[in-house]
Order: sequence, then structure tokens, then C-alpha cells
Amino acid sequence: MAVNEQDFKNALRMWASGVTVVTSKADGQAPKGMTATSFSSVSMDPPQILVCINQKADTGELIQDCKHFAVNILNTDQQAVSNQFAGGSSQEERFASIAWHEGDHNSPVLEDALAVIECKLEQQVQAGSHWIMVGNVEKVTCKEGDPLLYFDGAYRELIHS
Ligand SMILES: Cc1cc2nc3c(=O)[nH]c(=O)nc-3n(C[C@H](O)[C@H](O)[C@H](O)COP(=O)(O)O)c2cc1C
Repeated sequence: MAVNEQDFKNALRMWASGVTVVTSKADGQAPKGMTATSFSSVSMDPPQILVCINQKADTGELIQDCKHFAVNILNTDQQAVSNQFAGGSSQEERFASIAWHEGDHNSPVLEDALAVIECKLEQQVQAGSHWIMVGNVEKVTCKEGDPLLYFDGAYRELIHS
């Protein structure tokens, strides 16, 4: 028997995660990006990560074309950035109000992100409504700070005990 959709969503709400903005940019073209929590490490050797992207998202289309993307791990003060990249505003508006620069293969690097993982698309697997995008990690940048967290449909922050 198929699982009830609401039950499935309720279960997923119990998964706590960090928050990322996945970005991509073709040479000489406008940048694209979207908020994603479906990020995971995959392999240490070679270093690989994955992110699951809805097939309707224009950022996913761009990644397919230019074969590079960056995963920007947001810091605890970047709730507004997460909302901005989660729909509702145009791609132009998303990038207009934040500091970013192009990484080694054009993918936008958000300057305040806690960590940035620049990748070359290694494999793209269709899984239902989404693409599983597996990336070979080409460069990482890290800063000090706390991550933005997401749990039960709301942003959370770390409590240091
Ligand atoms: C906290 C949060 C996490 C999200 N995670 C994902 C995700 O992992 N994959 C995905 O495809 N969409 C995810 N979304 C939805 C996308 O961010 C949203 O559909 C996308 O920005 C729309 O972009 P578009 O207007 O370019 O299609 C998430 C949204 C929020 C608020």
C-alpha cells in the first residue's frame, strides 16, 4: 500500500538538517540558485557530495548544462537568504542583495556562507520528481561560526551547552 503523502511529509519534518543554497552559473550568463536541505556527503575517496533537486527548478537545469555547481552552507544569521532563495523572488532579485563572487568554475560563492563546496557534476540520477546530483568536490572554503538549522518546518539555532 502506498504511503500516505501527509504521513510521509510529517516523517520528513522530523529530520533536522543544515540549510544550503545551491548555485550555478554558465560563463557570461546570469547566476541561478536555490535553497536546498537535501544535501549529503557521499564519498571520501574521491570526495563526493549530493543534493536532490526538483526537476522543475531552473537551477537544476543550469547545473545539467554547465556541469558545475556550488553548495553554500548557510550560517545562523542567513535565514533571510534561505527564504530569498526558496522561491517567490526572481533569480535576479535573489543575487541582487547579497555579496557573492564567481568560484573557480563560475559557480556563485556566497561570501558570508559558513562553508562553500565547489563541485563538478559527476552523475545525475533521476529519482521520481527530483534529480540526485552527485558532485566531485573540487574546492572547499570554511569559516568560523554556527550553521543555520531547519527542523519541523522552522529555522533553528544551535545551543552551546
Ligand atoms: C528549508 C527549505 C529547504 C528546501 N530544500 C529543497 C531541496 O532540497 N530540494 C529542492 O528541490 N527544493 C528544496 N526547497 C525548495 C526550493 O528552494 C524552491 O522550490 C526553489 O528555490 C524554487 O526555485 P525556482 O523558483 O528557481 O524553481 C527547499 C525550500 C526550503 C524553504
